[in-house]
Amino acid sequence: MKMCSLTRVTNRAVSTLGGNKLKVSAEEATVADQEVTRKSFTDLQRERHKQANLSVLISCPPYFNENKFMKYLSQHGKVANHFFYESYGTHAVVEFVERESIDSLRAATRVPHGDDECVVPFKSRLLTLKSDRALDRTSIQCLRQSAVPINELIQKLCKAQDINEQVYTLLDEYQLTDENIRLRFLVSSLIKDVATAYFPEATVDPFGSTVNSFGKLGCDLDLFLDLDNIGKSSTGKAAGSFTSEYLMKHVPSGRVVTQRILSVISECIDNFGPGCTGVQKILNARCPLVRFTHQPAGLQCDLTSDNRIALRSSELLYIYGNYDNRVRALVFALRCWARVHGITSAIPGAWITNFSLTMMVLFFLQKRNPPVIPTLDQLKSLAGKDKFIVDGNDCTFVSDLNKIPPSKNSESIDVLLCDFLEFYGNFDFIKNGINIRKGKEQNKPDSSPLYIQNPFEQTLNVSRNVNHSQLERFIALARESAWVLQEQRNHSSERDKQAWGLAAVFLPSVSQGFGKGKRKKRKGFASERIKGLLESLKNTDKAR
Ligand code: GTP
Ligand code: MG
Repeated sequence: MKMCSLTRVTNRAVSTLGGNKLKVSAEEATVADQEVTRKSFTDLQRERHKQANLSVLISCPPYFNENKFMKYLSQHGKVANHFFYESYGTHAVVEFVERESIDSLRAATRVPHGDDECVVPFKSRLLTLKSDRALDRTSIQCLRQSAVPINELIQKLCKAQDINEQVYTLLDEYQLTDENIRLRFLVSSLIKDVATAYFPEATVDPFGSTVNSFGKLGCDLDLFLDLDNIGKSSTGKAAGSFTSEYLMKHVPSGRVVTQRILSVISECIDNFGPGCTGVQKILNARCPLVRFTHQPAGLQCDLTSDNRIALRSSELLYIYGNYDNRVRALVFALRCWARVHGITSAIPGAWITNFSLTMMVLFFLQKRNPPVIPTLDQLKSLAGKDKFIVDGNDCTFVSDLNKIPPSKNSESIDVLLCDFLEFYGNFDFIKNGINIRKGKEQNKPDSSPLYIQNPFEQTLNVSRNVNHSQLERFIALARESAWVLQEQRNHSSERDKQAWGLAAVFLPSVSQGFGKGKRKKRKGFASERIKGLLESLKNTDKAR
């Protein structure tokens, strides 16, 4: 199997960790980039969907014999892959080689009969393993599906040799694992099974941080219910002088269609979907959605429809994240930094979102001399004749990573991290907006405190939700963190005594330094900070 460059570098990093040596220079990483052929987003998605379609999720008893379990499964066909994890009990994800094996396993599976309660007879690929030999057990190795707590992370970061090594240690600890991504695609496939009961041509695709290469263990699972194939499947062929059309309900707008469909699907998920709890319809939002928890997977899911541009944005981020290792490492580190200090939040509000923050990092990387990454317009010109238009918006960019010339910039991660913080600590937010299409500042067309042009719907601002005080908090934190990193460069001999580098800027003491001399303000920041820490810990717990 070909691997994307970062996986290679990270694997290499892991293998050298045992010897307490982990060093990946920008040059080394760039060479690794050039060595491998990288998979396109579409190919990777296709592969993941295929794996998910061949998989079942099995809730296991506390004690059982793994060998016998595998033998039991192999009666139904060859198992390609399996792993165990904990979420409200032990679970197994089992991928078969052939879909017929799942049919065979399901045919041999009983419908439960409770004495007091009745069951909703919806047969899914979520099964329960019953074992009548409680004593016949072997210890099962469960893979971790959640991030280590922040204090443990800080200790690990302090053991690194330099900031570059810290950033890759952070990635190793917090990034989505292959198994976690498999589990996410399996949940997506289970939800698709619900949707296709009504709309056989529907597909459900994960988007956002599950697939954009910046996902952190415990992040939400964004799902896109795509009904576009329904129109495409009919030929519309004329027979003699006749054609035929489906008789369908007419409603006032596309938004109403989306709301109605999501409403019905949410009822199905709520009433029939095994393991789906806390289903909420949020249909009046700008982008209507259904939120629920998939308990056996330990994932919070947001299901949307009519949101193709978000899927395209995820692909764009994937392209940037896999173009050069430093992009993914830097975005990941800054997303964690912002989260720890409550600059971003899982709850919607007037704060900067991970999406906006990522745009800011990309813009900064385009502004380096020479640039670390190309502009969106350059990616568009590399696409050749392949146009991609969504609802009249030009979303064209190259999807083959191998067609993008390698970066001429070889700055190290620590320089980029420090300069990012300085760049935005001093950015003229009053006058300038951020434009990743051109890689240049643009005059702000309105008075929003933070203006980041939507790369595809170019008249929109992706950060229009951000208010003045949240932007000020971001600027103050950026300045304070830049100052901390700079100070440490000047006093590197004191490293052994205190948290340093990335660990130092993750500590709450950084945000305590905000707005020195303004006591009242500082108190506010401290409570925000505690809220942020609690949220980040809660999020970690959610995935357990
Ligand atoms: P997490 O915080 O880890 O979930 O990051 P995320 O990238 O998944 O962000 P989120 O779940 O908030 O949003 C999912 C996707 O929706 C993003 O990756 C974007 O593609 C898209 N999106 C989110 N916010 C905006 C926005 O303000 N404008 C636009 N155009 N798209 C957005
Ligand atoms: Mg998300």
